[in-house]
Amino acid sequence: MTEHVTIRPRNRLLAWIEERLPILSFTASHTTGYYAPKNFNVMYYFGSLALLVLVNQIVTGIFLTMFYTPTADGAFSSVEYIMRDVNWGWLIRYMHEVGASMFFVVVYLHMFRGLMYGSYKKPRELVWLLGMLIFLALMAEAFMGYVLPWGNMSFWGAKVIITLFSAVPVIGKDLVTWIMGDFIPSGATLNRFFALHVIALPLVLLLLVVLHLSALHEVGSNNPDGVEIKQKKGPDGHPLDGIPFHPYYTVKDLFGVGIFLILCAFIIFFEPTVGGWFLEHDNFIPANNLVTPAEIKPVWYFTPFYAILRVIPSKGLGVIALLCSIVVLFLVPWLDRGKVKSIRYRGTGYKVALAMFAIVFVLLGSIGAGKTTEWIPEIFGPNADLTFIENTFGRILTFLYFGYFLFLWAYTYFGWEKTKPVPERVTVVQH
Ligand code: HEM
Repeated sequence: MTEHVTIRPRNRLLAWIEERLPILSFTASHTTGYYAPKNFNVMYYFGSLALLVLVNQIVTGIFLTMFYTPTADGAFSSVEYIMRDVNWGWLIRYMHEVGASMFFVVVYLHMFRGLMYGSYKKPRELVWLLGMLIFLALMAEAFMGYVLPWGNMSFWGAKVIITLFSAVPVIGKDLVTWIMGDFIPSGATLNRFFALHVIALPLVLLLLVVLHLSALHEVGSNNPDGVEIKQKKGPDGHPLDGIPFHPYYTVKDLFGVGIFLILCAFIIFFEPTVGGWFLEHDNFIPANNLVTPAEIKPVWYFTPFYAILRVIPSKGLGVIALLCSIVVLFLVPWLDRGKVKSIRYRGTGYKVALAMFAIVFVLLGSIGAGKTTEWIPEIFGPNADLTFIENTFGRILTFLYFGYFLFLWAYTYFGWEKTKPVPERVTVVQH
């Protein structure tokens, strides 16, 4: 909940500017004037961390752009040049590369928090929808970024993903050629992906984040109890359970930033590829359209969705299921008819279903990443039919993925949910 704060600077120059462009009042209204619930827990760190990573990606991206060459002949060696010859180039590149994965770690946790506390429910539906648009833009941004180093996985990943558009009826094949600007991923593809990655999508992302936060500040933050704090106000007009975002949450968020940066530094300095999870081994080999990598697979953050595509035998149906797996997330505010927001007071069915959904998502990710070759023989013996088990298991998981949303709707629509009473005020545990 934003309350308007008027700042009248003593300094005459600042006062002159403020009268014409009230930037200080605007900033104060959205920090000291923004009353946030006093019971935020650790799940509320991830919004500000996502902002931090966004800034990191933009700043390190600008420096990478200064030395990177967006041509099929020059891209791979320009990245090698950044890693070996540019002063601190290795650090800038690894900050960008680790940052990309950490962006998804943070955003997935941020979204999961939304599901836990019903933050997508009225009046925050638009906050959720804008978040989902951010998620789409982020996926496009990450995909195009991965193509830029022009390693072998960049090339084959681009080929597989762009070719998915051939599933579009009638114009499919032409669409693929149009996107690539050629008949295979080539310099033309690389150059346009570069343009989209460094300027078009970052602008879209920034705009969406501004809208996301504006929509949030209009209605106010939810909290782990799912209690609307603006319904109980004190004599001073401030919510009884609200505290000013600044200084209370700026300080709290800084603590989260500290822990997060220590973790990131550890990864960047000691294990920047995270054993091939953050940066695949095949991307240390230059792009070659005659040599297919042993297994073409995307980076970990796409693998749950990629698994849904792969385990469905028909390409057309696979693409439709892939699209639906994302579209259905947009619909969550309308699928969930439950009156209670927070998982703390929801029915056992919801708790079990959400926990299962998280597990299913991780297992789908494991299938999409091709990790099944490691654990299927351990469970089913060395002679097990890998493809059959993987496909069967993957199809069951895909069914359960969509089943979660169907269950959520039925459970709340038919009134099967037995909720607990929601307290009038937020609950805070004293330490
Ligand atoms: C670049 C990516 C994103 C940034 C920088 C961002 C930023 C933020 C920030 C700073 C907040 C307020 C602090 C907090 O509640 O943690 C917030 C709240 C929220 N975000 Fe995001 N967000 C991003 C992506 C997403 C996505 C992908 C979704 C879901 C689809 C989403 C859904 C929400 C919701 C529902 C809230 C309100 C939470 C509540 O009040 O309980 N956001 N976001």
